[in-house]
Amino acid sequence: MSEQARASFGGKLSAILVAAGSAIGLGSIWRFPYMAGENGGAAFLLVYLLCVFVVGIPVMLGEFAVGRATKLNAVGAFRSLSRPWRWLGYNGVLGALFISGYYYIVAGWSLEYMVNSFGQLYSSGDSFTSQFALFQASPRQAIYTVVFILLTHLIIVRGVEKGIEKASKVMMPALFIILIIMAIRVALMPNAIEGYRFFLKPDFSTAFSAETIFTAIGQAFFSLSLGMGCMVTYASYFKKENHLTSTSMSVALLTLLVAVLAGLVIFPAVFSAGLEPAEGASLIFITLPEIFKDMPLASVWSAIFFLLLTLASLTSTISFHEVLTAYFAEEHKFSRKNATRITSALSVALCMLTLLWHFDIDFAGIKLENISFFEIFDYVTANILMPLGGLLTCIFVAWFMKPDFLRNEITNYGTLKGRVYPLLRFALRYVTPLLIVYIFLKNLGVF
Ligand code: PHE
Repeated sequence: MSEQARASFGGKLSAILVAAGSAIGLGSIWRFPYMAGENGGAAFLLVYLLCVFVVGIPVMLGEFAVGRATKLNAVGAFRSLSRPWRWLGYNGVLGALFISGYYYIVAGWSLEYMVNSFGQLYSSGDSFTSQFALFQASPRQAIYTVVFILLTHLIIVRGVEKGIEKASKVMMPALFIILIIMAIRVALMPNAIEGYRFFLKPDFSTAFSAETIFTAIGQAFFSLSLGMGCMVTYASYFKKENHLTSTSMSVALLTLLVAVLAGLVIFPAVFSAGLEPAEGASLIFITLPEIFKDMPLASVWSAIFFLLLTLASLTSTISFHEVLTAYFAEEHKFSRKNATRITSALSVALCMLTLLWHFDIDFAGIKLENISFFEIFDYVTANILMPLGGLLTCIFVAWFMKPDFLRNEITNYGTLKGRVYPLLRFALRYVTPLLIVYIFLKNLGVF
C-alpha cells in the first residue's frame, strides 16, 4: 500500500489515546489485581513498576520505531527490514491469535455483568461467588463471548480513523473518572486499611523471588500490549511528526495509573468483605459487586463500572484484532473486509474451543485436572510469546539494525533533540534483554 493511501491516526493526542486504549484493558483492571493478589500484593506492585520502566518503555519504543519506519503490519514490518526477522512478526501474529482465544471470554463476562446489574445480580440474594460459578456453567457465557467478538468486528470494519480512534477518545477518560470515584468510595468501607497494607506495604522477603519477577515481567508485557506486534501495527498508523518517546511514556504512565487505581479499589474491598485476595481470575467479578451492593443505586453504579470495563476491553480487543486483520489484508492480499471476517471467525472458533473443551494433563510429572485452553493461552502469551517477542525486538533494534535506525525514529530525523536516545540504546542493548534472559533462565531453575 502506498504511503498516501494508508490510513493514519490524527494528532499527537490520538496516538497516545489509541495506544493507551490498547494497553489499558482487562490487563490492568482484571489481570493485574489477581496477579498481585496471588503474588504478595505490594511486593508484586513494586516489581511490576520496575518492569514497566526497565523493560516496558524500551521495548515499546523499539516496536514504535519498527512500525512507524515501515508502515506495515507486524510480519511485513520486520520482513521489510530483514527477511529472516519476519519470524518475529509471526510470533506476534501467533500471540494475537492465542490472546483472542480467551480475552474475549473475559470481556464477555464484563458485558454480562453490565447487563445483569439490572437483572438478578443484586436481587437474587445468592452469594456473588455462586452467581459467578452459575454464569460460567451456563450457555450465556458463549453468547456474550460471541457478542463481544461482533462488537469488535463492527469497529474494525469501520476502519482505523473512524473506528479505532473515535472509540478510544471517549472511553479512556470516562474510565479514569469512575475508577477515582470508586477508590474514594471504598476508602470509607470498614477494614479498608488492611487492603492498603496488603497492596502498598511490600514484604521484601518475597519481592525478589524469581517467580514474582517472572510473573511481573509477563504482566508488564501483557498490560502494555508488547511483544505481540500490536504496538508495531499501531505505530504504522502514527504520523511522522508524532513524538515516540513522549507517547510511550504517557502510555506507560496511564496504564500504571489505571492498574494502581484498580488495586486501590479492589484490595480494600476484598479485605472489607472478608474475601481472599488470591481468588484468581474471578476476583473482580466477585469482590466488586460486594462494594456496589451496599451503595445507594447499586445497579446503576455497577452497570456504569462494567460498561466502562467493557469499553476498555473493547479498545484492547480491537488492537489485537487489528494485528491479525492488518496481517491478513497486507500479507495475504485479502480485502480489508474479508481480513476482518477471517479474524473474527478464527476468534469465535478459538473461544469456543476454550469454552467447550476441558481436559486433563498428565505429562512429564505435571498432573492437572479439568483444565481448559484458558490457562494455557494466558500463560503461553504472557509468559512466553510476549517476553520472547520483546527480547528479540531489543536484539533486532539495538544490535541488528544500524544505530541510525533508532536514532532517526526517536529524533524524528533530527528534528527533536532525542536526549533519551543514549539511555534508550543502552537499555535496549544490555539491560532489558539481559534481564529478560536472566529471569527466563532463573525461572526454569538454571541458576
Ligand atoms: N494490554 C491489553 C490489556 O491489558 C491486552 C493486550 C495485549 C492487547 C496484547 C493487545 C495486545 O488488556
